[in-house]
Amino acid sequence: MSTDKKLKFATKAVHEGGRPDPDSGAISTPIYQTSTYVQQSPGVHKGYEYGRTGNPTRKALEEKLAALESGAFGFAFSSGMAATSAIMGLAKNGEHVIVTDNVYGGTYRYFQQVMTDYGLSFSFVDTSNPTNIEEAVQSNTRMVFVETPTNPLLKISNLRDIAEFCRKRNLLSVVDNTFLSPYFQRPLELGIDIVVHSSTKYINGHSDVIGGIVVVNGEKLAERLAFLQNAVGAVPSPLDCWLILRATKTLHLRLQQQNRNAIKIAKSLAEHPRVTKVIYPGLETHPHHELAKTQQLDPNGNPGFGGMLSFELGNWENAKACLEQLSLFSLAESLGGVESLICHPASMTHASIPEAERKKIGLTNGLVRISAGVEDAQDLIEDLEQALAKI
Ligand SMILES: Cc1ncc(COP(=O)(O)O)c(C=O)c1O
Repeated sequence: MSTDKKLKFATKAVHEGGRPDPDSGAISTPIYQTSTYVQQSPGVHKGYEYGRTGNPTRKALEEKLAALESGAFGFAFSSGMAATSAIMGLAKNGEHVIVTDNVYGGTYRYFQQVMTDYGLSFSFVDTSNPTNIEEAVQSNTRMVFVETPTNPLLKISNLRDIAEFCRKRNLLSVVDNTFLSPYFQRPLELGIDIVVHSSTKYINGHSDVIGGIVVVNGEKLAERLAFLQNAVGAVPSPLDCWLILRATKTLHLRLQQQNRNAIKIAKSLAEHPRVTKVIYPGLETHPHHELAKTQQLDPNGNPGFGGMLSFELGNWENAKACLEQLSLFSLAESLGGVESLICHPASMTHASIPEAERKKIGLTNGLVRISAGVEDAQDLIEDLEQALAKI
């Protein structure tokens, strides 16, 4: 559809990317379930040669996500990790990458246990403090890979400052924007070079697809990413692209409700006697609340804090007791779906990080993480209250 930059986010979410089927007029973009495309004569075709290289359903998704992230080029992958691995394909043997110390456990594992064998080195630092980034820079540093807010401690890094720092030093800046989605944070608008998502999470939002997305503005970066997407081949199926494409039409509506629910849950937990700490960037007690208000903005410029929050129950026994008693919250890894999820990061999502490392960054055994869904907030709060009462 249109690539009119003036369209508002909600309109883009519905209309960008997809186009009515030229043959039938079907309003829903067809699922082009094909591996190859018929050519009229050798080399004469309609823009598609082979399914790994390109697919119209995938293209519709890539265009929609690029538009929502205020970028020019989008690339869809078969998982968030496949998207991250394409970004690592931009670095060369012998180069160094600075990474947020509290990144998603799978990202940490991929960098430490896979990419180090290919000659890359990594410094994991708290990127919410810019001095740490400056001090970690080496002569061979190629990239700064930031996750903000972090998972599950919700620390926030200043993206404007990081973008400027990287530009001055000729470093690539990368942001994993999975936790907020483009509805609440658009890093490319703040000067960042590359945005990556696990589209498994908010972008798809229905807990039924694994996927990844990379969005950039630079043509050279886009050329190399297109090459890597095709050369490595970790592409999503046409059906998965279609599911994500459909889900993205309601991204703005889901995120608004998830944000509202998370604020209500965070406030209620903050008053609960069994809860020793609530971590949510929307609370004034959050150390980066002011920064969040300046960079986590909905498309109308209003601050938004997303649907993720964590809270502390003091020890593993309390966390376990609470998690076993919940009925509306599902105990599961992942996040960003319409149904509320809850998890114990130390034994679930972040188990691949050694305990000593977890301790260093403050990821305790009593920490519980919530992904607020779109249900009624009062029902969710009552479910938490009855579970906490049984500790
Ligand atoms: C912040 C973040 N980035 C990346 C990933 C990896 O994505 P995927 O599971 O789609 O490979 C995840 C998965 O949980 C995540 O939470």
